[in-house]
Amino acid sequence: MSENAQLIIGDKTYSLPVIEGTEGEKAIDISKLRDLTGYVTLDVGYKNTGATTSAITFLDGELGILKYRGYPIEELAEKSSFIEVAYLLIHGELPNKEQLDYFQYEISRHTLVHEDLKKFFDGFPSKSHPMGQLSSLVCSLSAYYPESLKQVQTEEELHLSIIKMLAKMTTLVSWIYKKSLGHPYIYPQNKYDYVSNFVYMTFGQRTEPYVLDPVIVKAMNTLLILHADHEQNCSTSTVRIVGSSESNIYASVSSGISALWGPLHGGANQAVIEMLEQIKEDGGDTDKWIAKAKDKNDPFRLMGFGHRVYKNFDPRAKIIKKACDEILEKLGIDDEVLEIAKKLEEVALKDPYFVERKLYPNVDFYSGIIYRALGFPTDMFTVLFALGRLPGWIAQWKEMKEHKEPIGRPRQIYTGKVNRTYVELKDR
Ligand code: ACO
Repeated sequence: MSENAQLIIGDKTYSLPVIEGTEGEKAIDISKLRDLTGYVTLDVGYKNTGATTSAITFLDGELGILKYRGYPIEELAEKSSFIEVAYLLIHGELPNKEQLDYFQYEISRHTLVHEDLKKFFDGFPSKSHPMGQLSSLVCSLSAYYPESLKQVQTEEELHLSIIKMLAKMTTLVSWIYKKSLGHPYIYPQNKYDYVSNFVYMTFGQRTEPYVLDPVIVKAMNTLLILHADHEQNCSTSTVRIVGSSESNIYASVSSGISALWGPLHGGANQAVIEMLEQIKEDGGDTDKWIAKAKDKNDPFRLMGFGHRVYKNFDPRAKIIKKACDEILEKLGIDDEVLEIAKKLEEVALKDPYFVERKLYPNVDFYSGIIYRALGFPTDMFTVLFALGRLPGWIAQWKEMKEHKEPIGRPRQIYTGKVNRTYVELKDR
């Protein structure tokens, strides 16, 4: 027998269906609530609101579980490649060798961006933030691929838009990096796989042959896999809601990039390193900064700690912490900032303030340290997060379309003035 929830308002009782996900999580379906009762629900920040049903990613914040399409993140991070994970997220199944090769081949054929797009780079000031550049560049792709603007796309057109979106992203991200250095752009090479091509375009030089470093390629694969999807969150829900108005893929992804930029979301990886640098410059007294984070009159928060959903530990943080130690050792990096990070982590994990509020290091606490070790400037970190999250955004956007979800349009409870009479300007 299907379960129902009883809602009592005044002397009336309403029955609301309960729906259950495949992992046993339950939701009260309130989609008919307003029609039935005249009421809406109020849930600022959507802390208790399921905005969709989705078959892409499952996470359990209490138990620290994260799975893409049913595969545990731990296994994917250890055994697969980022491009394989991208295929899995977008198509729902792991590819066989032939499917993976073809996917890679299709992407390689579209990695070049239109030469005119390079002029956009010339227009950005040299110190402009890479996230602003990426968001604008991705949105502007719609100008070069007008077929993406069609309200109804054929399956092939949709597929091609997805391939192009994936393909152009590595080129744009590495060119943003090159621009920040004032170095010439490196063109993609079809012989490389997705991540190797990115590493080549980023760290290669026009003046000499580039030999790919397997440590860097592996580290990038791991980091990108860990960021590839995270069910509903600020940026992903933004992509879905923008896409629900039938905006094209480039505009939808661009909006996700803007949402990711903020320090409370993807921007945290940049904020972590800036915080660690600040603590270092201040003399490295971690106790002082822990005390600041606990002080309610001080706006300072310990960046890289806490998560809206993970209230036990972030499974990605566990994997990345191990990867971080390995990479720093392999690259022979001894970083004072890392020592500060370790001290902060040690103190915060024992401190009752953090323990009671279940504030643990999240994935961004460690990702910034690895990006820094690989040689990326701090303001590139969030762009790398966006590169990782891209397949997730695409998969969620595609699912939203396949579900034929209605346009996203929340309600509100109005708390402003009522019934005022206009007063002529001369009388005010
Ligand atoms: N440092 C100090 N105190 C904190 C921190 C922190 N990093 N995070 C939360 N708290 C405290 C809050 O002050 C609050 O205390 P109170 O109950 O005494 O008022 C309590 O913990 C709960 O915090 P909320 O802000 O209500 O938790 P919420 O779930 O809304 O926020 C968030 C989650 C935004 C991630 C928050 O923990 C935070 O700001 N962390 C730092 C930024 C960060 O690392 N973001 C990356 C998130 S992961 C990602 O996007 C990939």
